[in-house]
Amino acid sequence: MNMPSQHPSIIAIDGPAASGKSTIGLRLANALGYLFFDTGVMYRAVTWLALERGLDIRDEAALTALAEEAQIDVAPASRSDGRTCDVLVNGQDITWETRSRNVDANVSPVSAYRGVRSALTEQQRRIGLRGDVVMVGRDIGTVVLPDADLKIYLDATPEERARRRYEEILVRGGEADYDEILRKVRERDRIDSTRDVAPLKAAQDAIVVDSDQLTADEVFEQVLALVK
Ligand code: CDP
Repeated sequence: MNMPSQHPSIIAIDGPAASGKSTIGLRLANALGYLFFDTGVMYRAVTWLALERGLDIRDEAALTALAEEAQIDVAPASRSDGRTCDVLVNGQDITWETRSRNVDANVSPVSAYRGVRSALTEQQRRIGLRGDVVMVGRDIGTVVLPDADLKIYLDATPEERARRRYEEILVRGGEADYDEILRKVRERDRIDSTRDVAPLKAAQDAIVVDSDQLTADEVFEQVLALVK
């Protein structure tokens, strides 16, 4: 689809875990012919690599060195197996590995480290400033791209987000415990929003979309209306 140039070129979507940022962001990017960039996968890639190498997650210096040295590539999805993008670390496709329980459990502490954030933020900013991009994360509108043309903060209650994650796992044929998922969503929210560096919050000029009572299609329509 060809869009006239007055559409926002840099679109930031932030929000808590499982608020639907990736689904909406990918659909929006496809509709506009923009690059979709999910920054969460970079934090997941560093976390996966640290676990793989047996590093101590509490070792901030080691994690920072790893984030600075790891070759992380995020590319458009090469397979239609449910992924929104490919995640490569040092050339290896680790897209599904980054979605493991172990990564889920450790990614928030890793993302709280200042050194890890500055290494990854720099790469994200470089890509974002090229424009024609939908960038998704926790701190895109506040820290990574504070001058984004359009900022959306996608929200939903922890219960609704846990329900969506639960359904997602069942659809993929996995086993899930709703109460455990809800506990983890709350724990990740707590760490992400109380950390010192780039905590999760809506930018002052962000438009907050509460998706609790909306289907994915309805959220997409709302967001598309904002773009137009
Ligand atoms: O898919 P989900 O929303 O559950 O998580 P994600 O977007 O893949 O992000 C995983 C974790 O990375 C988050 O819980 C944050 O701790 C961290 N993150 C961040 O700190 N800053 C970002 N821009 C993106 C993710």
